[in-house]
Amino acid sequence: MKLWFAQSIAGRLRVLVLFVSGTALLLAYISFLAFDFYSLRHNLIDSLETQATIIGFNSESALLFDDQQTAETTLSALRGAPSILAAEIFRADGRAFALYARQDSAKQSIVPKLAVGQTSASWIQDRSVLLGHAIKSDGKFIGSVYILAETRDIANRTRQFGLLSAAILLLCFAIALLATSTMRGLIIRPLENLAETAHVVSRQKDYSVRAKVPRRRDELAFLVQSFNEMLDEIEKGRAVLEQKVAERTAELSAANREIEAFSYTVAHDLRGPLQQVANIGFLLQSNAVNGKTPEASALLGKLVSATSRMSSLIDDLLNLSRAGTAPLKHVQVDLSAIARTILENLVLGDKRHIETVIADSRVAIADEGLITVVLENLLRNAWKYSSRKDLAHIEFGCRDMGDESVYFVKDNGAGFDNAYVDRLFSPFQRLHSQADFPGTGVGLATVQRIIARHGGRVWATGSVDRGAEFCFTLPQSKCGRETDSELSD
Ligand SMILES: Nc1ncnc2c1ncn2[C@@H]1O[C@H](COP(=O)(O)OP(=O)(O)OP(=O)(O)O)[C@@H](O)[C@H]1O
Ligand SMILES: [Mg+2]
Repeated sequence: MKLWFAQSIAGRLRVLVLFVSGTALLLAYISFLAFDFYSLRHNLIDSLETQATIIGFNSESALLFDDQQTAETTLSALRGAPSILAAEIFRADGRAFALYARQDSAKQSIVPKLAVGQTSASWIQDRSVLLGHAIKSDGKFIGSVYILAETRDIANRTRQFGLLSAAILLLCFAIALLATSTMRGLIIRPLENLAETAHVVSRQKDYSVRAKVPRRRDELAFLVQSFNEMLDEIEKGRAVLEQKVAERTAELSAANREIEAFSYTVAHDLRGPLQQVANIGFLLQSNAVNGKTPEASALLGKLVSATSRMSSLIDDLLNLSRAGTAPLKHVQVDLSAIARTILENLVLGDKRHIETVIADSRVAIADEGLITVVLENLLRNAWKYSSRKDLAHIEFGCRDMGDESVYFVKDNGAGFDNAYVDRLFSPFQRLHSQADFPGTGVGLATVQRIIARHGGRVWATGSVDRGAEFCFTLPQSKCGRETDSELSD
């Protein structure tokens, strides 16, 4: 069980002080008591011995002349010693000779116990001590005297001693309590204050708070001051960091605005004149055909196709730029439905022998517009690079790999050399010639940018003439037909 006062430093200190002082006092009490008990008993026996010697000396002639009255008078001198309960003189043969008993005490019977030749001995009884002393005349044993004294004094002393020690113990406890409350003010409170400040800093991330520095110039004050200085440094560092972040954000926003302005220019200002060039080229080509000038017609044909390529290049670049800047809006998206629509549109425009497999209801948490761009690029690639196959096979699906769900688009087309796989996702890097498979080389770069913005990864594997597989992950999504992941922006 935990004691309530032992939970704080102050409580623990108090318990410690009380425990140490209590133990010290108890040990001191026991040792003093033991010493006192033995010395008192020793003194009592000494004094009984002296009294027995005197009585024995004074009773010598009484014993020799069988004068019982004198012996009893001698014994009655013991009245002056209130602790003596009884005393008795015995003849040499052990018969009682003279007796003294304290008036108020009950009748005590004394049995001689001295062994033959023994001069003196004492016996501790329940609450009394019995002392026996041999009486000799000219070295000859003529009788013995026994004194029975109570040890009440010793018991009283023990009780008094105990009471005194308990009083001292209480006093010590009071002093210990006083000392710990003084210590609380001197040591514990500054420490508590420091702990509270550290708590605020760690929980609320508020670095503006400061611990109160104690007035005394001691180690604690130094500790608190160092802690405050540390907070100063952190605050300064954070301010510098925040300023740098603000500067970088401003620079980034400016760069983004420039990119947007550039994209706008490309989209509107360049596309207009380009369209005019294409139109004029087309008209000139028609006139040239009518005027039967084949060279001019061929040249104008090239001009028209160049402008159309340039137009699709502009579109791709715009897509790439938007992929990096358009805001994300995560929703639950049915990737299978999107893939199906894309492939249906492709089939409409090109009657080829093609086999398509689309896994059912593969949903994901993603930005619908951007994830459509991803699938569009991957499926168009699969379509394009499998166009030379007699029976093309295109598949979209999802598989669980460990904790991750991996979406894939694969085909059995031209494939590529895996040694150059790193190049695929860089803009304008193409592994096939323009003559074999036309394109601008921006599609996969756009795919990578979009997947990276979703926090996922994209990779590819391929083999020349045996097809390719493009895989991507979306962190919040699972292969299952439905996902219960939370939507987040
Ligand atoms: N399914 C695929 N099979 C074989 N190679 C592929 C496949 N998909 C992409 N590649 C290779 O990766 C290159 C880059 O693809 P990416 O989609 O970026 O460009 P692209 O298809 O050439 O042009 P576009 O920008 O018009 O899509 C391609 O030129 C091609 O060499
Ligand atoms: Mg492409």
